Amino acid sequence: MRLDVKDVVKRFPGVEAPVLNGISLSMDAGEVVALTGESGSGKSTLLHVIAGLEPADGGDVTLGETALSGMDDAGRAAFRRTELGIVFQQFNLIPSLTVGKNLGFQAELAGKPTGKNDISSMAQALGIIDQMAKYPEELSGGQQQRVAIGRALMHGPKLVLADEPTGNLDEATSDAVFDLLLGETAKTGASLLIVTHSEKLASRAGRRLHLSRGQIET
Ligand SMILES: Nc1ncnc2c1ncn2[C@@H]1O[C@H](COP(=O)(O)OP(=O)(O)O)[C@@H](O)[C@H]1O
Ligand SMILES: [Mg+2]
Repeated sequence: MRLDVKDVVKRFPGVEAPVLNGISLSMDAGEVVALTGESGSGKSTLLHVIAGLEPADGGDVTLGETALSGMDDAGRAAFRRTELGIVFQQFNLIPSLTVGKNLGFQAELAGKPTGKNDISSMAQALGIIDQMAKYPEELSGGQQQRVAIGRALMHGPKLVLADEPTGNLDEATSDAVFDLLLGETAKTGASLLIVTHSEKLASRAGRRLHLSRGQIET
């Protein structure tokens, strides 16, 4: 799915300078773009605005043919559920559900319930197959991160927004998880926007963007 971000401005109350100060970027369907920037530069905020989770104060985001501003909250939520895969920096796993149920959760919400086999093969690929019956609090940070990545991919989203998805992983696991993200999105033709601090991973993306002082530097 194509993504067009046009002149997006985002301020937070009590913070003088806008966090996003006229951001424009486009991604073609199937493109893999890495987003870098110092801590606090607004990377997570930009992902949240693109996902329609945070309202922008100016500008607009168009996902495929659909402008976020043209939808109401319910429309945005429905769109997000079916078309987007979001790997949150803080994982946002559901504490009362097992790993297996967390993995299948968004697919169920998206109306594309997945069978046990699909969930198992994703868990296998993520290296968490022996954790399926556990609850998130029983996992390490790296294991929780892998569940969050799996959950964001299970329903076959058209755009994956991944916020430092390898931030808690050692280098070998990081590489494997990035391979999985690239492989899964390539398989379905999904676009992938990945926030990363890793130069090595960023250099494997088709294109790189850098966020600094509220603006994109290419
Ligand atoms: N809900 C919020 N209210 C006020 N300030 C916020 C909020 N969320 C983020 N910020 C501020 O916006 C800036 C960018 O945050 P963030 O997008 O999380 O940066 P990054 O992901 O690049 O580390 C930071 O200065 C942060 O403190
Ligand atoms: Mg962040």
